Order: sequence, then C-alpha cells, then structure tokens
Amino acid sequence: MGREGFVPLLLLLAAVAVASLAAAAEAATATSGDAAAIADLVKSLSLGGGGGDACDVVGIKCDSSGRVTGINLADKGLSGTLPASLSTLIALQSLQLQGNELTGAVPSLAGMDSLSVLALDDNKFSSLPDDFLKGLTSLTDLSMDHIPSLKAWNVPDALIDCAMLQNFSASNASIVGTLPAVLGNLTSLRQLRLSYNNLTGGLPAELSGMDALENLQLNGQQTLKLSGPLDVLASVKSLKVVWLQSNAFTGQIPDFSGLQLVDFDVRDNQLTGLVPVSLTQIPTLNRVVLSNNYLQGPKGNFTKNVSTKDVDAGNSYCSDDLGPCNPLVTTLLEVASGFGYPIKLAQSWVKSQPCDTNWFGVSCANGDVVSISLNNQSLTGMISPAFANLTKLERLSLANNNLSGVIPDALTLLPNLKYLDVSNNSLTGQVPGFKSSVKVLATGNRFGESGGDSGGGSSSSGSSSSSKSGGAPNSRSNAGMIIGILLAVILLVVCLGLFVHHRRKKNVDKFSPVSTKSPSAESEMMKIQVVGTNGNSYGSASAVPSELYSHVSSDSTNIANIFDSHGMQLPMNVLLNATNNFDENCILGRGGFGVVYKGTLNGKLVAVKRCDSGTMGTKGLQEFMAEIDVLRKVRHRHLVALLGYSTHGNERLLVYEFMSGGTLREHLCDLQQSGYTPLNWTQRMTIALDVARGIEYLHGLAQETFIHRDLKPSNILLDQDLRAKVSDFGLVKLAKDTDKSMMTRVAGTFGYLAPEYATTGKVTTKVDVYAYGVILMEMITGRKVLDDSLPEDETHLVTIFRRNMLDKEKFRKFVDPTLELSAEAWNSLLEVADLARHCTAREPHQRPDMCHCVNRLSSLVDQWKPSNIIDDDEGGTSEIGLHQQLEKWRCDDFTISDSDTFSTFSMSRKYH
Ligand SMILES: *[C@@H]1O[C@H](CO)[C@@H](O)[C@H](O)[C@H]1NC(C)=O
Ligand SMILES: *[C@@H]1O[C@H](CO)[C@@H](O)[C@H](O)[C@H]1NC(C)=O
Ligand SMILES: *[C@@H]1O[C@H](CO)[C@@H](O)[C@H](O)[C@H]1NC(C)=O
Ligand SMILES: *[C@@H]1O[C@H](CO)[C@@H](O)[C@H](O)[C@H]1NC(C)=O
Ligand SMILES: *[C@@H]1O[C@H](CO)[C@@H](O)[C@H](O)[C@H]1NC(C)=O
Ligand SMILES: *[C@@H]1O[C@H](CO)[C@@H](O)[C@H](O)[C@H]1NC(C)=O
Ligand SMILES: *[C@@H]1O[C@H](CO)[C@@H](O)[C@H](O)[C@H]1NC(C)=O
Ligand SMILES: *[C@@H]1O[C@H](CO)[C@@H](O)[C@H](O)[C@H]1NC(C)=O
Repeated sequence: MGREGFVPLLLLLAAVAVASLAAAAEAATATSGDAAAIADLVKSLSLGGGGGDACDVVGIKCDSSGRVTGINLADKGLSGTLPASLSTLIALQSLQLQGNELTGAVPSLAGMDSLSVLALDDNKFSSLPDDFLKGLTSLTDLSMDHIPSLKAWNVPDALIDCAMLQNFSASNASIVGTLPAVLGNLTSLRQLRLSYNNLTGGLPAELSGMDALENLQLNGQQTLKLSGPLDVLASVKSLKVVWLQSNAFTGQIPDFSGLQLVDFDVRDNQLTGLVPVSLTQIPTLNRVVLSNNYLQGPKGNFTKNVSTKDVDAGNSYCSDDLGPCNPLVTTLLEVASGFGYPIKLAQSWVKSQPCDTNWFGVSCANGDVVSISLNNQSLTGMISPAFANLTKLERLSLANNNLSGVIPDALTLLPNLKYLDVSNNSLTGQVPGFKSSVKVLATGNRFGESGGDSGGGSSSSGSSSSSKSGGAPNSRSNAGMIIGILLAVILLVVCLGLFVHHRRKKNVDKFSPVSTKSPSAESEMMKIQVVGTNGNSYGSASAVPSELYSHVSSDSTNIANIFDSHGMQLPMNVLLNATNNFDENCILGRGGFGVVYKGTLNGKLVAVKRCDSGTMGTKGLQEFMAEIDVLRKVRHRHLVALLGYSTHGNERLLVYEFMSGGTLREHLCDLQQSGYTPLNWTQRMTIALDVARGIEYLHGLAQETFIHRDLKPSNILLDQDLRAKVSDFGLVKLAKDTDKSMMTRVAGTFGYLAPEYATTGKVTTKVDVYAYGVILMEMITGRKVLDDSLPEDETHLVTIFRRNMLDKEKFRKFVDPTLELSAEAWNSLLEVADLARHCTAREPHQRPDMCHCVNRLSSLVDQWKPSNIIDDDEGGTSEIGLHQQLEKWRCDDFTISDSDTFSTFSMSRKYH
C-alpha cells in the first residue's frame, strides 16, 4: 500500500471504532419507526412476547443502530396476514416467512432496497401487490414455491430492478402469462425455477443474455404449457440443469456443444428431429430424459449413467439398436430437416421403412420412393437438396406451403423426375434449368428477389445451392462478390501452392491436389485426382460402354451383376473388399476432398474415390451427384468411365476405370517426381487430340451440351499407351444451348479460367476452349500455367506465350527444351501454337469451337505421323498404326465378350 492510502485508512478505522462504541451504548433498541412496524407484525401474526423491545422479539434481528435487519419466522405454524407497515423496515435485509399458514395479500415491499433474501414459500397468501418486486435492488434470493392459493399473477417487468438476483424460485405459485423478456437482463441469476405454473408462450430470445444461469426449471406448466423451439438455450452457455418436461416445446434439440450440461430433461414434449450427436458427447452429462417426444433417426449413443429407457421410450427412432438408419430413411429425414422437422411428418415418418409403413405424403414403387406429395401442409423452411438423392423420384408436389429459399439445383439431377409443383410458396432465386421432360409448376413465388432470407430450418443452407448442372443462373452476382471471389481464388492459389509444396516435401505427391474452387464455401474441397502408378501392366484404351451395366452375363461373379442395372449403385461391402477395407497401401491419392484408392473388383483394377463426408457438405454432395449424373449420360473413349458408385451412411464412393499412366500434369511438369520420361511431340499431339475429342463430345455430340469447367493437365489421365481421357466431372454444367451464356458461380482452377468467366461468372463452352488453349501451351512449353518465380507480369503462361510468339527466335527458346523436333514437327508445333493462341483469345467469340480444334489437330496428326514412327523411343508398337487406330476409334460401337467384361485391354487389342 502506498503512503497516500495509509492516512485515510487510519481515519476510517478510527471512525469505525467511534461508531461501534456509540452502537454499544444504544444496543438493541429499535428505532421508533421499526418498532412500530414490528409491533404491527407481532399483533397480526399473534407472536408471543411483544411487550419489550422489538429487537428482543424471537426471530427479529437488529443492527447496532437499532434498525431491524432480519425477520426469520420460518416454520412457526403462524397464521394471520402481513401488515402493510412491513415496507417501512427499510434496513431489512432478510425476510423469511416460509412454512407457515399466512393468508391474505402480501403487502407492498416496494423500495425495500436493503432486502436481499425474501422467502414466502409454503403459505396461503391470496395475492401479490401490484408493485411486487419494484425497487428491490438488493434482492439476491427470492423463493416463493408452493403458494397455489395466490391469485393468478404475471412475472412483473419490475423484475428488472432486481439486478442482483441469483435465485428465483416460484414453482407451483399460480404464475400465468409468458416469460418476460426482462429475464434476459438478470445477468446474475443462477437459478430460475418456475415449474408447475400456468406459463404459456415460448422462450424469449432475450434469455441468451442470462450469462450466469445454471439451473433452469420450467417443467410441468398447466393447460397451454410452454411451447416453441428450444434454440435460444444453446446460447446460454452457463446452463447445467435444464428441466422442461411436460410442456409443449417443438422443434429440434439444439446443439448444446460448448455447454457443460449435467441434467437435461425434456420428457413429454413434442420435440422432433434427430438426437444431436453433440448432446451425446457432452462429457459432464449425467442424466438425460428424452422420452415421449417425436424424436427420429438413429438413437443417441449416450454413455455413462444415462438410462436407455429414458432416452428411448415413446420416440420414433429408426432402429432398435444404435446403428444408422437405412439410406432411404436418412434421406427422407434430411428432407424433413429442410422443413424443420414438422410435427405432422414426425408423427407419421416413423420406424425404419418408408415404403412398408404408410409414411404421410410418400408413395413408393419397388421399395423406393417415387412420389412425395406435401401440398397445403403449412410447411416452412426450405426445399432440401437431399431430395436429389431420392433417385427414383418422379413426382414432387410442395404447393401451397410457405417454403422459402431457392429451389436447389440438385433437383435437376433427379434422373426420373417428371413433375415438380412448388407453386404458391415464398421461394426466391431462379427456377433452375430442368430438362424439358420435367413439368414444372412454380407460379405464386418470389422468384427474382434475392433470397436473402433463405428461410432457415436446416443446417444445410438452401441458398448455397448455386449451380451444379441445372443452369440456374445465380445472376445476382455483383462486382463486390466477384472481387471477393477473385481474392478468394488468389488466396487459395497461395494456400494450394503451400499445400502442394508441403506434400512434395513429404514425398507423397504421387497425385496432384488441385482445383481451387473459388467461392469460399467450396474452398475446403480441393478435389483430388485419380492417378495411376507407373508402369502397371494393366492397359486401358477405351471407355466401357454403357451396355455393360444393363444386359450382361450369366456369370454370377461378373462385375456387371454387382452394378444395379439403373443406378450403378454398388454395395458397400463390395468396395470394402475391393480396397482391402480401404487399406492405406492402396491409396493412390489424397486431398481435401477425400482419398482415392486403387482397388480390385472382380479381378480388374479400379480407382475408388472415397469422398470425405466430413468436409463434403452440400456442395460436395452436389458435385458427387453431378459427377454421377454426367458420367451416366456421357460415355466416350476419351472421358474417364464411371463404373459405379456407393452411398452408405455418410460414405460417398465413386468407382472409375483405373488409368495406369498417371496425369498429363505428371508427364509435363512434375517429371522429377513422377519419374516419367518427357513426352515426345507425337505423343503430345495424340494426347491433345484425344482431349479435344473428349471435350468436343461433351460440348455437343452427346444429347446435351455439357461444360466441363475444370479442364487442366491434372484432370487428364493417361493409360499405359499414353492415350488420354478427361476426368473429374464434379463441376460440369449442363447448358441449355451451346451458344447461350449462363451465369454461374465461378468455379474452376486459377490460370485456366477464361477472363470473362472469372470476372462475370458467364459460362459458355468457350470457357473449356480457353482452358484447352492453356493446356496446349503447357504441352508446347513444358511449363506450368502459373510460375510464381517469375516477375509479376510473367507469371501467367498465357501472357508470356503470346508475347514470345511475336518473335520467332525467342519462341524457339521458349518451347520445351526436351522436345527434339524435326522441321516438319516444328511446323506442326507452330500451327498448334497458333491454335493455342486463338483458343485463349480474350473475347469468347474469337475462340474457335472444339470441333475446329479437333479438325486442325487431326490434320496435323495425319501430316507428320509417318516420319515419327521410327524415332519413337517409347510406346513401341502402340504408336504403329496410330492413324488406323484413330480411324477405328471413330466408331463408338464395339461389343465385348462376357468373360472379359471391362477388360479394356482386350478391347484395345482388337484394334491392333
Ligand atoms: C403445490 O402446492 C401445494 C401446497 O403446498 C401442494 O399440496 C401441491 O402438491 C403442490 N403441487 C405440486 C405440483 O407440487
Ligand atoms: C441459491 O440457491 C442455492 C441452492 O438452493 C443455494 O445454495 C445458494 O446459496 C442460493 N444463493 C443465494 C444467493 O442465496
Ligand atoms: C435489458 O436488456 C436489453 C437487451 O437485452 C437492453 O436493450 C435493455 O437496455 C436492458 N434494460 C436495462 C434496464 O438494463
Ligand atoms: C391456466 O390458464 C388458462 C388461461 O391461460 C386457464 O384457462 C386455465 O384454467 C389455467 N389453468 C390453471 C390450472 O390455472
Ligand atoms: C454416475 O452415477 C453415480 C451414482 O449416481 C455417480 O456416483 C457417478 O459420479 C456418476 N458418473 C458420472 C460420470 O457422472
Ligand atoms: C457408442 O459409443 C461408444 C463410446 O463412444 C462407442 O464405443 C460405440 O462404438 C458407440 N456405438 C455405436 C453403435 O456407435
Ligand atoms: C388447405 O388446407 C386448409 C386447411 O387445412 C383448407 O382450408 C384449404 O381449403 C386447403 N386448400 C387447398 C387448396 O387444398
Ligand atoms: C442426401 O443428401 C444430403 C445433402 O443434402 C446428404 O447430407 C445426405 O448424406 C444424403 N443422404 C443419403 C442417404 O445419401
């Protein structure tokens, strides 16, 4: 303590000493005002031993100055009423009258600003004063349980005066009305017990302000009961005991992670939805009672002292044990989640089989859901993208509800959808581009308004649905957003750079983590590539024709039988076997989006992409669905074939043909790591032509126009013969029209993004042409598209490539030094360079179509090929007859023998 503090302290001590001397002299003589009030009290409660000084009355405590500070008359069997003069005891700190038979009105206590403890429990009072709790600024403890004789009263707003209140207990005390918002101002309140009253209404949002609340007991309200959702409780982080049983609460159990709940009782309510996994994982939880609600989905796996009886009884879990629900149930529950698990569905959508029991609004055929009809059900919330995994769905009617948010683009992926009615809701955004075979009724909505309020109700936000394949333009993208996206792209590129670098250090970079997808929501999902190991003897020269899946084979072990005839869905255990239970040693690649395993399916090598469900989210699911959908429709020898897929619980697996030759990227710029020898010009041209043909097909030769949007060398896979196939269709977009542009969220990989696409999100097939041009440049120069080691204006290959083309000598030095070029080859290279330049023209209309690229390249391949056959140092016989081979490959129809189902090796043999 400093000097300055010392003198005042001495003075203070002196003053205290004087005061206590004075007090001693006057001890225990109540001041006249207090004496009168106590006399009133003695009289009206017939207390014995009045006569003498008030401070001598049993149960009365005075301070040294004769002020009455305490009245403790608990459990004295007293009857009578309280005198009005009680409120004159302004020094009173504690008034304890519990456990008597007191009757009549509780007098006004207004302004007793010393009163800290007020206990009125277990009496027979008839009413409370109008100014009850007014001005009781020191009150810490208010208990008034079990006074059912009280006239109905509301918790008064004057409660806000009691800022020090720590305990407020008024169970069984005739409280009516709603919980007042001022409760939220009681930041010291630790216990709030208002059980067994007649409270109604919901939990006010202001409760989130109760920073100290540990114990909340609102159980057993009469008649109308408390209702509405529990969500606000998740933000009262101090809660330990929550008793809400026997009310009418609805909605889901909120996510209480971060709380140290000990006791959670919501028995006998109308809660719906799933038992949150977060609840089961609260380590402090000692008692949980969930019985008699409408809880759905898998049972909560509680440990410790939680009795299963209290969790299970009277709910609608999908299974008697702890395991997951079957996929159909899981999907329908996600659908219900979009609507916030409405009670009507919760009451009907019970047990484990939607198609065996009559789920409201659900119709089935062959054990799968074909129609969902929920017209006019007062549904709120949003249309869940999970509808998209009801792959057999033909009809979907959600008319005359109050749904908000957007129509998820994922619905356009439903292969069998014929009828969609969403009229008369509050949907925003745009109607996605459905196939013309789908009858869409969508009048009476708010389309065109930006769906700012996407109408909550679910964790998976509908507004993020964006743009997988439906052509639903998110046309509202404005300059700010674009800048944001670009910044995100740049950041991602930097991060990716580090990531790649890091991986490389660890020498596990057999594959390339790629695809920066710009919007931040997608950022965590860097896609990974299916990449083969080197020198595998398994050859693969062409795609597997779709007939494979529909009519094959009497051989029961045949792979074709494993695929279901329509969906190509594979049982999970088949893939577990194929990958030796996802053996670490089978890993081909790994990335933010999942892991790719090499597997053996029926004796054939396959690549199994196992999507990381944790980081996948809705966007990931859409990519997954998009990829399946596209690959189901488009089959081409220069597009990697999808052999099947599997969903099981959270698992999402895609099975592709295995490509043993690695990625083009590894053959161009990652040579040191991959150990490949540089490609010669012939090989490069062949690959370029393969890619061009694959893309040309995507762009127009299939029934529909698809835009790949993420073309780059790491998405081009090679087989043993160095023939190329385009892979990774996760960003593919279905275009309505070859030429029309669509607005989308920008997605793709920096460096390959066409300028108009990167800046405006406008996407046409010319976006792929641009990326193709960039790939040609990489093949000519052997350089990466972005090179951070160069000065800023030279980092982008397109810029320097175009610059160098102006000067022939410079350009010669710029070309990949590993290329040994004959004069003829040099000429062809110049032509390809010119093509690359056109493909990367700034204006989309200045870029050629893909079929032009195919034509230019195939004429070049014809021209110079013969002179190269002899020089070929690699590939040997595979180069012989390249032209013949190309000619033959022009025809798509080939048949395969049953015994050799997708041995593409045997197919390629046929061409020699
Ligand atoms: C309410 O209080 C009365 C009187 O003390 C008691 O008899 C009754 O059992 C209480 N009710 C509840 C639900 O506790
Ligand atoms: C509040 O009630 C609890 C338990 O009934 C008790 O332990 C605590 O002392 C009370 N707090 C105050 C300020 O009286
Ligand atoms: C009570 O809390 C609300 C917000 O929760 C605040 O706006 C208001 O000013 C508070 N009232 C008092 C008297 O502190
Ligand atoms: C509860 O309040 C409602 C009106 O809100 C009233 O009709 C009902 O009788 C009350 N119930 C009890 C038990 O007091
Ligand atoms: C389980 O309950 C017992 C007895 O009620 C108690 O002693 C023990 O602490 C509880 N365990 C946990 C982890 O809370
Ligand atoms: C339930 O939880 C325990 C402990 O966390 C775990 O060992 C067990 O596998 C879980 N059961 C199921 C079916 O998930
Ligand atoms: C929708 O339901 C309400 C009440 O359930 C009913 O009055 C109304 O006629 C129904 N409207 C239609 C279009 O079915
Ligand atoms: C259905 O889609 C949702 C995303 O909307 C996904 O989270 C869920 O896992 C899918 N369910 C099944 C059974 O495939």
